[in-house]
Amino acid sequence: MKKIDIHTHFLPEKWPDLAARFGTPDWPAMRHTEPGKAMIMVGDQEFRPVYEACWNPAVRIEEMDRHNVDVQVICATPVLFAYERPAEQAADCAKLFNDAALEICAYNPQRLKALCQVPLQDIDASCEEVTRAVKNGHLGVQIGNHVGHKNLDDEGLLTFLQHCASVGAAVLVHPWDMMARDRMPKYMLPWLVSMPAETQLSILSLIMSGSFERLPKSLRICFAHGGGSFAFLLGRVDNAWKHRDIVREDCPNIPSSYVDRFYVDSAVFNSDALAMLVKVMGDDRVMLGSDYPFPLGEQEIGQLIQDHTLFDVSLKQKILGDNAQNFLQI
Ligand code: CO
Repeated sequence: MKKIDIHTHFLPEKWPDLAARFGTPDWPAMRHTEPGKAMIMVGDQEFRPVYEACWNPAVRIEEMDRHNVDVQVICATPVLFAYERPAEQAADCAKLFNDAALEICAYNPQRLKALCQVPLQDIDASCEEVTRAVKNGHLGVQIGNHVGHKNLDDEGLLTFLQHCASVGAAVLVHPWDMMARDRMPKYMLPWLVSMPAETQLSILSLIMSGSFERLPKSLRICFAHGGGSFAFLLGRVDNAWKHRDIVREDCPNIPSSYVDRFYVDSAVFNSDALAMLVKVMGDDRVMLGSDYPFPLGEQEIGQLIQDHTLFDVSLKQKILGDNAQNFLQI
């Protein structure tokens, strides 16, 4: 079975000292600690330990072979987005990391594909960079799920999504900059609670605002981590839409009718959750996504799908690869 993993991350082995380049503190940097291992630093704070697969395509391909993954889509780690920085600095970073992604893919262009990043606080600059990136070989773009207080239904962000559809760029929405972090100082709770909520918020902001009525059907957009809390709580949303006019104010059709307008990945780590996700989203809308090579990613890539007792062979093939081929247009 063809296996395409649409949600993996990379980091270049090294990059210029951004604090020195821009004259502002707390930029991410890589501190190599021992051969094959590094710590992502944000200023002088340790952010996350990483290993060679992040930057070394040979290690990546070796691990893909071990998991029988045919194609991996790599994208930046959200800590590199820089949406809160001056736009020209974020644009500079985007170019830097987008070119670095293509260098990694050049090791094996048939098996390594990339999504770019853009300076999403500046819509014109974002449109320009995604156009440049797609011309250079990126299949699309990964965006953070919000920019400050702006959700995906913001006019500027909708303009960007329209632009992505017009240049044929697939869009992966990744949660970042999680809500209510000050109430979750321990146990990685922002990853466990806020990330799924952020993703649900993004999907609902597009549905409830009626944005899907305006966005072209040709837009290919996917939400990470199984769409976060969305699928499990869709019944609650439909119920509210039926019973309260303030809920359906801008959304002409029942929320669950929009599930054919976007994709989600399979990173839910539980076979019952995956079965429900496929039931809610439909057979054509869920794609293998692992969050490789991070510690919270699926360690046996694709196993949850392959071993699923409720999925037949053709459904497994769709989730493992066919749906991604449609999403990525490869
Ligand atoms: Co991820």
